[in-house]
Amino acid sequence: MTTDGVTGGQKIWFITGVSRGFGRELARTLLDQGQVVIGTTRDGRSDLPEDARLHVLPLDVTDAAQVKETVATAHALRGRLDVVVNNAGYGLLGAVEGADTAATRQMFEVNFFGALAVMQAALPLMRARRSGHIVNITSIAGLAPGVGSGLYAASKCALEGVSLSLAQEVAPLGIRVTLVEPGAFRTDFLTDHSLRVTGAGIDDYAATAGAAVARLQALNGGQPGDPALAARAIAAAVRSPHPPLHLVLGTDAWNRVQARQEAFTANLTDWREVTLGTDFPT
Ligand SMILES: NC(=O)c1ccc[n+]([C@@H]2O[C@H](COP(=O)([O-])OP(=O)(O)OC[C@H]3O[C@@H](n4cnc5c(N)ncnc54)[C@H](OP(=O)(O)O)[C@@H]3O)[C@@H](O)[C@H]2O)c1
Repeated sequence: MTTDGVTGGQKIWFITGVSRGFGRELARTLLDQGQVVIGTTRDGRSDLPEDARLHVLPLDVTDAAQVKETVATAHALRGRLDVVVNNAGYGLLGAVEGADTAATRQMFEVNFFGALAVMQAALPLMRARRSGHIVNITSIAGLAPGVGSGLYAASKCALEGVSLSLAQEVAPLGIRVTLVEPGAFRTDFLTDHSLRVTGAGIDDYAATAGAAVARLQALNGGQPGDPALAARAIAAAVRSPHPPLHLVLGTDAWNRVQARQEAFTANLTDWREVTLGTDFPT
C-alpha cells in the first residue's frame, strides 16, 4: 500500500529535468509514494531532499552520447527502469513567419530529439524485460495548436506523432506509452528562465501572435494548473491497470481539445464526399 492509499508495487522511475517544474514535482510525489526516482538535471544537482530512493544524474538531453551513457548508468543503479518520463523541455513563442531557425532547431533538439534519444536508449532495456512504460510530456499545443506558439506546437506534435506510432510498435512487446498533454500549469515554463520568444516585430501579426505572446507572458504566476496535482495524476495514470494513451491535464486543456475535436469533425463531415471521391473505381 502506498502512502496515498493506493496498492501498487515499487517502480523505478527515470525522469529528465527534475531541477524545476513538473519534473521536480513528479519526483517529490513519487518519493512520497515510496517509489524510486532516478532524476536528471543539467548540472547534476537538485534541491530535492536527500533520500536513499532518489538518485540524481547530470544530463543535457541534447547530448546524444550523454543520453546513452546516462540511461545505462541509471539502469545499472537499480537493475531496471520501469517508467521513463521525457519531461525536459521549454517553450518558444512568436509568429511562425518570423521564427528564428537556429532557435527553432535548438528547441527541437530538446523537445523532440532529446526525448527520442532517451526512448531509443531505454527501449532495448525494456524490450529485454518485455515490460516498461514510456511517459512523454507533450502539451495541449501538441493536440490543439494556438496562435503565437506554432513552432513549440510543431515540436510537441512531432513528439505526439512518434509516440502514437511507437505505442503500436511496442504494445506487443509489453511496453506502454502515455502522452501527457497539460494546459497552462504554474511552473517556471513562462518565466524568462525557460521561455524563449522569437520573431517579434512584424506588425501584421501584432493582433494575433503578438497578442497571444503578451497574454501568455502576463499569465505567468496565474496559470490555473497546479503542478502537484498534475504529478499525482501522472503517478495514478501509470499505476492504473489500464493506463491512458492520452492524459490531458487541466480545464483549459480539456476545453481546447473539445473545441479542436468539434472543428475537426465538422471539417471532415463538410468535405466527406470529396474525401471519399478520390479512389479508383472498384
Ligand atoms: N507548465 C506548463 O504550462 C506546460 C504546459 C504544457 C507542457 N509543458 C511541458 O512540461 C515539461 C516541463 O516543463 P515545466 O512546465 O516543468 O517547465 P520548467 O519549470 O521551465 O522546467 C523545465 C525543465 O526542463 C529542463 N530542461 C530544459 N532544457 C533542457 C536540456 N537541454 N536538457 C535537460 N533538461 C532541460 C529544465 O532544466 P534546467 O533547470 O537545467 O533549465 C527544467 O528542469 C516541458 O516539456 C514543457 O514543454 C509545460
